[in-house]
Amino acid sequence: MADLLRDQINAYLEQTFLDGGIPPRLSEAMRYSLLAGGKRLRPALFLRFARACAPEKAEKVTGDLMPFAAGIEMVHTYSLIHDDLPAMDDDDLRRGRPTCHRAFGEATAILAGDALLTDAFGFMARAAAPAEDLLRALHSFADAAGSAGMAGGQELDLEAEGKRIPLEELIVLNAKKTGALLRCSCECGVLLGGGTSAQREASRIFGSEFGIAFQITDDILDVTGDAETVGKEVRHDAESGKATWPSLLGLEEARRLAIAHCSNAAAALDGAFPPGRDADLLRAAAQSLADRTH
Ligand code: IPE
Ligand code: IPE
Ligand code: MG
Ligand code: MG
Ligand code: MG
Repeated sequence: MADLLRDQINAYLEQTFLDGGIPPRLSEAMRYSLLAGGKRLRPALFLRFARACAPEKAEKVTGDLMPFAAGIEMVHTYSLIHDDLPAMDDDDLRRGRPTCHRAFGEATAILAGDALLTDAFGFMARAAAPAEDLLRALHSFADAAGSAGMAGGQELDLEAEGKRIPLEELIVLNAKKTGALLRCSCECGVLLGGGTSAQREASRIFGSEFGIAFQITDDILDVTGDAETVGKEVRHDAESGKATWPSLLGLEEARRLAIAHCSNAAAALDGAFPPGRDADLLRAAAQSLADRTH
């Protein structure tokens, strides 16, 4: 799914993320986490949606919007650094390497997260798009990452530790902690790609369904995966008493639900996105999500 776009996103992050004016140790910690690999799923979804709205100028759209894509990945990376901290999930492995706080200490890891989050909005503001659209996209991304979105979901996740919460609560928690950034990445792609309101609605549904399926598969991989392939510690959710899909519903039902939400995501594109290279890749990404191994 990310394929070629992942290479372009990596190349942009690599060359743009320079050290000018950043204390070297902070810069090193930021680069360590940001450039450690990672699927680049959120920026790739963002760019794919933008391109699918303007197939005739897909390459130009990619170049124009790459700073926004980079900002999305920076926000996501900050969320991972903070998620791994001892006070949160207390994880030692991320993207196949020691977590940021393991490599640089907690204080620098906290600051690397703070700096990535803040710098991200500066990057996003540099995208070449009509000012009004850009403002709307920035506003909506801030909402998705903030207290009512991802950060709020992370709080709900911590509060649910050690409890058996009802499924409705897990759905809300999931929609915030993981769904919000994924959904907003899709929607901002349509917004900045100049899509129609029908395409925007389709991207919202796609993103929400994809977000549920994505966290279900993340939770499943924690039970069934191996650390080397997944790139992070496994069997940790049960140890920490996390509220997860397999813990609430069992593995088989969780798998069934993931497949159902993947199909819903792909189907959401029908009508608004006629067949075409980028729309087809989005459909394929949704269809193959339930089978992911990392
Ligand atoms: C992990 O996200 C955090 C969740 C929301 C489950 P990814 O699985 O996209 O992590 P990277 O970016 O590929 O490392
Ligand atoms: C975290 O979910 C989602 C974020 C907002 C970072 P998890 O805690 O399950 O993510 P992993 O498994 O550590 O990547
Ligand atoms: Mg977590
Ligand atoms: Mg975690
Ligand atoms: Mg997880």
